[in-house]
Amino acid sequence: MRPSGARIRSIFTSFSNPRQSRQQRAMSRRLLSGSSRKNVLMTTLLAIQVSPRGGYSTSRKLTSDFIEKWKAQHPGGTVVPRDLATTHLPFVDLPWIGGAFTPPEQHAPEVKAAIKVSDDLVSELKASDHIVIGTPLYNFNVPAILKAYIDHIVRLGVTFTMNYEGLVQGKRATIILTSGSDFSPGTPYASFNQAEPYLRQILGFIGITDVNVILAGRSLAVDTGEKTLNEFAEQFSGQLQSAVA
Ligand SMILES: Cc1cc2nc3c(=O)[nH]c(=O)nc-3n(C[C@H](O)[C@H](O)[C@H](O)COP(=O)(O)O)c2cc1C
Repeated sequence: MRPSGARIRSIFTSFSNPRQSRQQRAMSRRLLSGSSRKNVLMTTLLAIQVSPRGGYSTSRKLTSDFIEKWKAQHPGGTVVPRDLATTHLPFVDLPWIGGAFTPPEQHAPEVKAAIKVSDDLVSELKASDHIVIGTPLYNFNVPAILKAYIDHIVRLGVTFTMNYEGLVQGKRATIILTSGSDFSPGTPYASFNQAEPYLRQILGFIGITDVNVILAGRSLAVDTGEKTLNEFAEQFSGQLQSAVA
């Protein structure tokens, strides 16, 4: 949820210093009046990374470029990293299901532990304003580890209701999807890309409908040496900049 105008004013008032310089006071006034082009509200970006390829990863490179642009646009913002390649998420299992569908007072220790993983991921998600997911396309869909994450955060009564009402409201999402081939609209195999419609649907289902997808295809050019990682990323710089604005 974005802070109200009164809350923003009280945040700035509580930090005001009587010995501020004239320049600092002018800046504070600009911030309060909203005349600055940069968004200085206290805002949080949840940065979900998926690829196991570390420094060779195209999706990580584009996502870290996105994070740098986001930080420049939101000087007071906080970035919360969630690296699924190192989080070692368990799959949904019987104790997890017990935890998700029975009241907490009935939870045995094993059930408590299983559902805590999900509770923590949901809290992290709900505390964010903007979510960026940097992921490769695997076999025309999302990598299994991202699906495992989704299974943790899509929870009846927690992130959606029985009436298909999403409970994670007021957020934006940016998906950076890299793939060896090109699946841009109008290309012959565009419909093979199941990841984009799936991610749009599942995020919308939990209430996140403001979703921007950056399709970063033809990453094969990096593998063949036709382009460097930087040259590949540069092609999407404009789209990344628009996504943080
Ligand atoms: C297991 C696996 C499955 C893949 N499946 C596809 C695919 O279905 N279509 C495609 O165009 N590229 C596919 N690729 C290529 C990756 O999407 C591409 O190399 C991507 O840029 C990798 O992202 P990363 O560099 O962030 O790991 C696959 C790669 C791997 C390792």
